[in-house]
Amino acid sequence: MHIILINGSPRKNGATAKLNKALSKQLLELNPDIPLETIELGEVRPRYCDGCLYCYRKGECHIKDDGMEEISRRIAECDGLVLASPTYGSSVSGLFKTLIDRGHLLVEQALHKKPCIVMTTYANAQGRQTLSFMNKLVMTSGGYSTSKIAIKVPFNGNPISPQVAQKLSSAAKRLYRSIHNDGKSQSLFSRLFGFVAFHIVLKPMAMKSPKEYRGVLERWVERGLMKKEVLS
Ligand SMILES: Cc1cc2nc3c(=O)[nH]c(=O)nc-3n(C[C@H](O)[C@H](O)[C@H](O)COP(=O)(O)O)c2cc1C
Repeated sequence: MHIILINGSPRKNGATAKLNKALSKQLLELNPDIPLETIELGEVRPRYCDGCLYCYRKGECHIKDDGMEEISRRIAECDGLVLASPTYGSSVSGLFKTLIDRGHLLVEQALHKKPCIVMTTYANAQGRQTLSFMNKLVMTSGGYSTSKIAIKVPFNGNPISPQVAQKLSSAAKRLYRSIHNDGKSQSLFSRLFGFVAFHIVLKPMAMKSPKEYRGVLERWVERGLMKKEVLS
């Protein structure tokens, strides 16, 4: 079992990082041997997607010097994922958005059957909007959110109150259980949402120009979403 926590804030000791740290602690209380890995996107400093669509053809990005390809691979292979971002301008941070654009999440269905926790911190308003965006990202990427947590906290404040600690404890338990359930705890709504995203939107798009989407089709075959005959 391998769980990855992503921090989409450029601030390594900010409120979002504190949520991730407190959640890690709760997960380790459930099982001190769980391999946990925190990725600080602020330290990675990912380059922007340049929109060349090389990844659609090849299943990988041509930008290789910022470590994002390795991060994407580890995300696709982990058993549980925690996506945390501060709310910036009513949505996720630019750093977090770059992870979406560069991380092969959505088109390649990298979160197929993966339980995820989505979390945001915000100072005034629109935290729920950020959370809804993150939840849709998870579902359109084939995964499902086991907990959605938005915490309002003044800038530079500590987000960990006793109530928040309780929420994180429940979230840790739900994620841990879902990993062991192998997708059985996925709600009907997120199954339907994922079905529509894949079968009604993504699949017809790729099948119209299979050469242009060769790299994507290969990933779908790897993930058991399509039969390998589609590649011949
Ligand atoms: C560029 C920028 C945009 C922000 N936009 C919002 C916003 O739309 N709504 C809000 O409530 N807080 C907003 N905030 C405040 C942050 O969401 C909040 O302070 C958050 O907890 C910071 O997380 P961090 O300490 O992990 O960096 C913004 C902060 C910054 C720097």
